[in-house]
Amino acid sequence: QKKIGILTAGGDCPGLNAAIRGVGKTAIVEYGMEVLGFNAGYTGLINSDYIELKESKLSGILTLGGTILGTSREKPYKLVKEDGGENDKPEKIIETYENLGLDCVVCIGGNGTMKTANLLSKEGLNVIGIPKTIDNDVWGTDVTFGFDSAVQIATEAMDRLHTTANSHQRVMIIEIMGHHAGWLALYSGVAGGGDIILLPELEYNIRSVCKKIESRYEDNKPYSIVVVAEGIEHPKNKSAASHIAESIQTYTGIETRETVLGYIQRGGSPTPMDRILATRYGSFAAQCIAEGKFGTMVAVKDNDLTTVPLEDVGGKLRLVDKDHPLISKARKMGVSFGDEFL
Ligand code: F6P
Repeated sequence: QKKIGILTAGGDCPGLNAAIRGVGKTAIVEYGMEVLGFNAGYTGLINSDYIELKESKLSGILTLGGTILGTSREKPYKLVKEDGGENDKPEKIIETYENLGLDCVVCIGGNGTMKTANLLSKEGLNVIGIPKTIDNDVWGTDVTFGFDSAVQIATEAMDRLHTTANSHQRVMIIEIMGHHAGWLALYSGVAGGGDIILLPELEYNIRSVCKKIESRYEDNKPYSIVVVAEGIEHPKNKSAASHIAESIQTYTGIETRETVLGYIQRGGSPTPMDRILATRYGSFAAQCIAEGKFGTMVAVKDNDLTTVPLEDVGGKLRLVDKDHPLISKARKMGVSFGDEFL
């Protein structure tokens, strides 16, 4: 009987439990494997801290937000560099793997998680990665689960901001997560009818932003929604939203308010699309274990499931192309990306 481990690492997102369930149920029901769940990401693997995931434990979790295994941003290899090789965490992971007699570890996470998964694979461990993140920026796949749920949450927030912006004739700034990647700001910005969308991948200037707001006023549209990705260039002593709000207020004199959506974007139940994607990924990962396709990350290409070598994934980000079709379409409809007067 094969014995496998599952862990969830990095920032949480909706759909993690659906993925754990997808791996676990397929591994148990279809392949008769024994399944362990490591607590708090790579920390659980370092400390041999795990629970047994019997099939009963995997029931009733499909719709739950967060992760029943907990997560952490532990990077077991990071200290190796800083402490000149003092770090024994990778060794401890190998010990856990060998002592428990594992046949594979499934690492569910984003780019950082895949980087570690690749290093563990190079140590000789059988590893399979599953990509998740609300940022949708994992290299090697078209889509990560968590993204669709976050788009839904952010879009709903924009719908609500529209009605209050309209009533008060204000400019509303909404800051959207995404670290270095603008996927979430772009998709929710278009779905939520943002008038100006600022992405980390595109250069912007305040003049373009203010001109757009003023021209809306002149066109009898006395309110605006400005969608700002957290990763746009801004002074480090304030949020991106504060920076843009203060600048607009100063240069246009129009009443401006800001909302930083924050961790709400990562919480709660996954959308049906994310449940399905996480389930597909999870179940396919179990199949890959049975077929011995180790050292890979499961991925979606043109809606088909496939695998990509972990070696190719780690450390690279999938960013929004400045000529992305959704950007061009939005521009044609009058949406500003803050770069008209650069
Ligand atoms: O990667 C997901 C994400 O939510 C980013 O959008 C955000 O920049 C970051 O995580 C926040 O990290 P933390 O959970 O460490 O505060």
